[in-house]
Amino acid sequence: MKAILYMAPTLNGFIAKLGDDTGFVSKNSWKSYRQMIKKAKCMIVGSRTYKIMIEAEDLKGLEKTVVVAVSKKPFKALPKNHFVAKSPKQALQILKRQGFKSALVAGGGALNASFLKEGLIDEIFLDVEPLVLGNGIRLFAEGNFEAKLKLAGVKKLSRNEVQLHYKVLKK
Ligand SMILES: NC(=O)c1ccc[n+]([C@@H]2O[C@H](COP(=O)([O-])OP(=O)(O)OC[C@H]3O[C@@H](n4cnc5c(N)ncnc54)[C@H](OP(=O)(O)O)[C@@H]3O)[C@@H](O)[C@H]2O)c1
Repeated sequence: MKAILYMAPTLNGFIAKLGDDTGFVSKNSWKSYRQMIKKAKCMIVGSRTYKIMIEAEDLKGLEKTVVVAVSKKPFKALPKNHFVAKSPKQALQILKRQGFKSALVAGGGALNASFLKEGLIDEIFLDVEPLVLGNGIRLFAEGNFEAKLKLAGVKKLSRNEVQLHYKVLKK
């Protein structure tokens, strides 16, 4: 099962300001992100990102997408194509059982770090937003891990934005 991480970080690797403001993510990046979700037909998110997306109605137009929220806690009512997994591995198993061969891992920082730490990420797409922040939520939450990457592509999304594509080198 292939796992592809897709994020829109600032130049210095923050995916949200303190207080969860992601207003710096450009329209082009959102468009590209939604296209990627539609292509994957499934996505995995951390419980915080899941709740934020539901509240902000970010999944409007993506009702057919199979969504797995990763959380150690039970959730109440969920649409029938939304699931809760207790770990990154379980999230991938749920999607594998449904016939998916690859999954989009879509944040946030704590979930990204959990996946990377367990060696479960195969590819990374980053839409680098033209902004530097002094603090905020990191692309990968702090932890004791390391991953070596190979640059697989660079695409210009707009005059002000590039998309970096990396393959994760397996140990
Ligand atoms: N710019 C972007 O591209 C982008 C994309 C996505 C999200 N974001 C932003 O990122 C922020 C959220 O990131 P975050 O780091 O605070 O939260 P998060 O990663 O979305 O969610 C964290 C939660 O995920 C669960 N989790 C993570 N690792 C786990 C593991 N190994 N096993 C079981 N559960 C695990 C835990 O849920 P429980 O506590 O429920 O157990 C944890 O509290 C938001 O501001 C969001 O808007 C930005």
